[in-house]
Amino acid sequence: MWFHVDRSIQKTLTQQIYEQLRNSILNGELNRDVKLPSTRELSTSIGVSRNIVLEVYNQLVDEGYLIVRPRSGTFVAPGSSLIKLTTNESKVEIKKQNKGYTDVIDFRAATPAMDHFPRKVWGRLAKEVCYEAPDQLFGYHSPEGLVELKEELSRYLLRTRGVVSDPAQIIITSGATQALSLITELLLKENQLVAVEDPVTDEMRTIFSYGGATIIPVPVDDKGIQPEFLSEDTPPSFIFILPSHQFPLGGTLTIQRRIQLIEYARKFNCYIVEDDYDSEFTYEGTPVHSVQGLDPERVLYVGTFSKILSPALRIGYVVLPEPLIEECKKLKWYTDRHHPSLEQLMLTRFIKEGFLDRHIRKMKRIYKQRREALVSSLKNHFPDSRILGHAAGMHLVVEIPSVDFNGELLDWIKKYSIQIYPVEYYSIIKGLHNHKIVLGYGGLAVEKIEEGVSRLSMAIKSYKK
Ligand SMILES: Cc1ncc(COP(=O)(O)O)c(C=O)c1O
Repeated sequence: MWFHVDRSIQKTLTQQIYEQLRNSILNGELNRDVKLPSTRELSTSIGVSRNIVLEVYNQLVDEGYLIVRPRSGTFVAPGSSLIKLTTNESKVEIKKQNKGYTDVIDFRAATPAMDHFPRKVWGRLAKEVCYEAPDQLFGYHSPEGLVELKEELSRYLLRTRGVVSDPAQIIITSGATQALSLITELLLKENQLVAVEDPVTDEMRTIFSYGGATIIPVPVDDKGIQPEFLSEDTPPSFIFILPSHQFPLGGTLTIQRRIQLIEYARKFNCYIVEDDYDSEFTYEGTPVHSVQGLDPERVLYVGTFSKILSPALRIGYVVLPEPLIEECKKLKWYTDRHHPSLEQLMLTRFIKEGFLDRHIRKMKRIYKQRREALVSSLKNHFPDSRILGHAAGMHLVVEIPSVDFNGELLDWIKKYSIQIYPVEYYSIIKGLHNHKIVLGYGGLAVEKIEEGVSRLSMAIKSYKK
């Protein structure tokens, strides 16, 4: 038995020997009933004092890894090994198989350009808020969020999205994720049915099913959700929609369908939950206003700063119809009391001092360039491809009729160190979108986008050849 000890590191010798011996027992290298050397023998072979080994043995006996048999010695106790799961090994295996690329180009959708976060301004605001905010800001606050932020948001949403709200209707949440989780709890009282677009973001759909919902898929085409497929016999408690830029297919919901949805919600006394996650970034035409603006009593409007600024901030919000406000505040309170106040104040100043508008203008230019690079690369490498949806947001869907993106091909593509996302992955009813993939471009520089599409083309050409 041999242990390596390093006297130049901060960890004590006892800790080093303890961890190595414990790991050897846990991973099964030292089987049950193996007899350990005496403390004298082991200390001499490692070159440490006997007291250290004694301390390690005692600790492992106390924890149950070792047992002492009188007059026989110290043994590994039965039942002390735990077989390791192989997830990491298979990841390593995939890496080993790749074609020698050192980086992975990940076309994950909805990832903003992290290299453009306004660090300087945010850092300055953090310092200012910390030094200048009144003492009272450092205490507890009410669950709905800071009034100053809600007032700024209310003005911003009216100006940019046509959202009609009194600041009292807004609750600041930990991203859209928490807003949707609170909404699920709030609305799934008697009726557990939730109608969702199909295909749709799996993450958001899972929030509802984890919350106890039965999911009813409603088909989507290039103009968004198709309201005529909503059931008249079993209406849901709410309909979840992404009307500005459907995820993943990218359609913008027509005014006729918006009206149809509202009429349905009124008739069957249910709500519409509108997730407006990336509508700030529209590259053609003028952005269509929110559905909430058409009927603030029927629509819960959810927004987030994850795409405009960064998901790391974890700041989102929900604008509620008046009758739901008090109950939602209670739910927020029992979940996490309230959103961190310092960050709320920093964001308030960020909006008030004009940085948000400036940042959005800048990012719109950058995302537009990235999108154009992606579209033209796709056209070069796949002349038969078709881009779906509205030019907006941070992702697009491309259909390549000659390619069936089945599991085997997707595994093959991974060898080229690129990650792409088939639309089928987001579909509830399977088999309708085999030739389509989602490509996110927000977090990738132009060179990476071009390189990624070129690798995709090489991967597809070399498949089964
Ligand atoms: C449809 C949709 N809405 C909202 C979000 C943002 O979630 P959050 O605000 O919790 O970061 C995402 C994240 O990927 C999303 O896909």
